[in-house]
Amino acid sequence: MSNVRPETMQRITTPELANAFIEEQIAAVKQQVGNKKVLLALSGGVDSSVVAALLIKAIGKNLVCVHVNHGLLRKGEPEQVIEVFRNQMDANLIYIDATDRFLNKLEGVAEPEKKRKIIGEEFIRVFEEEARKLDDVDFLAQGTIYPDILESGPVKAHHNVGGLPEDIHFEGLVEPIKLLFKDEVRVIGRALGLPSNMVDRQPFPGPGLGVRCTGAITRDRLEALRESDAILREEFAKADLEGKVWQYFTIVPDYKSVGVKGGLRSFEWPCIIRAVNTRDAMTATIEEIPYDLLHKIVCRITNEVNGINRVLYDLTPKPTGTIEWE
Ligand code: XMP
Repeated sequence: MSNVRPETMQRITTPELANAFIEEQIAAVKQQVGNKKVLLALSGGVDSSVVAALLIKAIGKNLVCVHVNHGLLRKGEPEQVIEVFRNQMDANLIYIDATDRFLNKLEGVAEPEKKRKIIGEEFIRVFEEEARKLDDVDFLAQGTIYPDILESGPVKAHHNVGGLPEDIHFEGLVEPIKLLFKDEVRVIGRALGLPSNMVDRQPFPGPGLGVRCTGAITRDRLEALRESDAILREEFAKADLEGKVWQYFTIVPDYKSVGVKGGLRSFEWPCIIRAVNTRDAMTATIEEIPYDLLHKIVCRITNEVNGINRVLYDLTPKPTGTIEWE
């Protein structure tokens, strides 16, 4: 398949068009890989999940999915990957909990780019180690999509975590969705029966919660971040905002302020809410969260999350702020 989308290619907008695309790709993948094995790093994001579901249909257990939990995933994510792919789709899924390995490497590292680099490199290393244990995989599958090809640019370059394992030779790459735009990938995902919260997921950076637990990551602050993020997502879902706001998440910075909790002085972290809309992530505007919803989120986070005594709402568009805090 060439890397250029033909001008005549129809935009995939309906389940019928999605099914036709799926059938076409199943045939193409079967032809490309025959009876050989294919390896896929399955993050649980939209793109890799759609590739996994498609390849399971095409080659079943000859697809080997590797899900690396770097300890910086959102609450419930690794569990959902295991539930959907291993339990429901009967995939050949290797789950690696590498939390300790990543957090140990990151201990005391406060510089944002250094953190990103450690996470990216460690990810490739863990993936390579697993790949080497499986001596009979011939192809590597990837969830490349068309904007990845178009954006040769700066956003992807510094954002990509993972990339190709360098010292393992594969016979070829399997990239069944590389000519599709994101909205088309979501239509395909729905047609493949993936759950809607997986298909409509907001973008999530490769280094995950690592860029939202600012400065040197500690386990307790990471936990406060994970819990506050889960509350925010739950309340957005209840308010029917899921899939309607580009990105919404919390940040827990590495400093504390004084407060009162249960009549006693507290000295705890603040939690910052960020909710933005954008078309291309180059600029972004603020989602105006209704005041009553904000109020509910503040109440829940300060009551339910250990270590948080204040909640702030970041009203800075991009520019001058970036979407993430690191
Ligand atoms: P910024 O913070 O630069 O983010 O305004 C723009 C978009 O990119 C996402 N992002 C990342 N994605 N690895 C990724 O895969 C990264 O290191 C990374 N940093 C930011 C961010 O979530 C937003 O959607």
